[in-house]
Amino acid sequence: MWFSVCLVNLILLTGSEACRLPGTLQTIVKSAGQSVLLLCSCTDPHTRPASLIWEFSASGSGPWVPVTQSDLYRNRLEFNETKLLLSHLTEEDRGFYRCRIRNQQFRDFSLSVQGCTLSGQQETPIEITVSSGQSVLLPCSCTDLQTRPASFTWRFNEEHTSAWVPVTQSDLYRGRMELFNETTPGNLSLLLSHLTEKDQGYYRCGIRSGQVRDIHLTVRGKRCC
Ligand SMILES: *[C@@H]1O[C@H](CO)[C@@H](O)[C@H](O)[C@H]1NC(C)=O
Ligand SMILES: *[C@@H]1O[C@H](CO)[C@@H](O)[C@H](O)[C@H]1NC(C)=O
Repeated sequence: MWFSVCLVNLILLTGSEACRLPGTLQTIVKSAGQSVLLLCSCTDPHTRPASLIWEFSASGSGPWVPVTQSDLYRNRLEFNETKLLLSHLTEEDRGFYRCRIRNQQFRDFSLSVQGCTLSGQQETPIEITVSSGQSVLLPCSCTDLQTRPASFTWRFNEEHTSAWVPVTQSDLYRGRMELFNETTPGNLSLLLSHLTEKDQGYYRCGIRSGQVRDIHLTVRGKRCC
């Protein structure tokens, strides 16, 4: 009886000790919008980790929450044996990831996700002058064009003193706007076509962190110049 209990324990222990995880912290730097692949491999490639779970802690000092229990990652996680693929990274994914196996062994990954920083200077609006009927590209971009901001808006203001109106909510621009961020996530520029004098005023590109870039657009009428 005792003998068989010991034997079972022995088998379980050898099984769990078969896989050793590297003790080192792996540091990973990504841009928002990218994917990250975390690999929880045993130091000996012939062994396999048993009962592997992935956990997250923002500070790295706990509490450690299983990633499957967090709404934050809904539809963005894929597991395959020892791999965890996390896609469409946002700045909120920053923190520490831990793969834990049996016998309290674990390996930690430190993930930093770089968000969008708008390029150029903020102090004075960019001045752009075009003739009515033409198109204009209102420039706005993240310093890293592969970075996808969590959200961004373009707003219009005739005088720079009254309320800012989201361009997408204005009938004035219907069918005359084009964005390019689907192909280049960090390119937030707005192309306006068939300009009229009514389009003259201030345009503001803004991201969630509160950074903005202003453009002052002058549209010359046909009569003029
Ligand atoms: C896991 O990944 C391996 C190779 O990386 C692949 O051959 C296998 O089909 C994948 N399994 C699942 C369930 O996706
Ligand atoms: C953004 O896309 C437009 C249209 O393709 C292009 O003209 C512009 O140069 C791009 N901006 C940046 C910063 O790449």
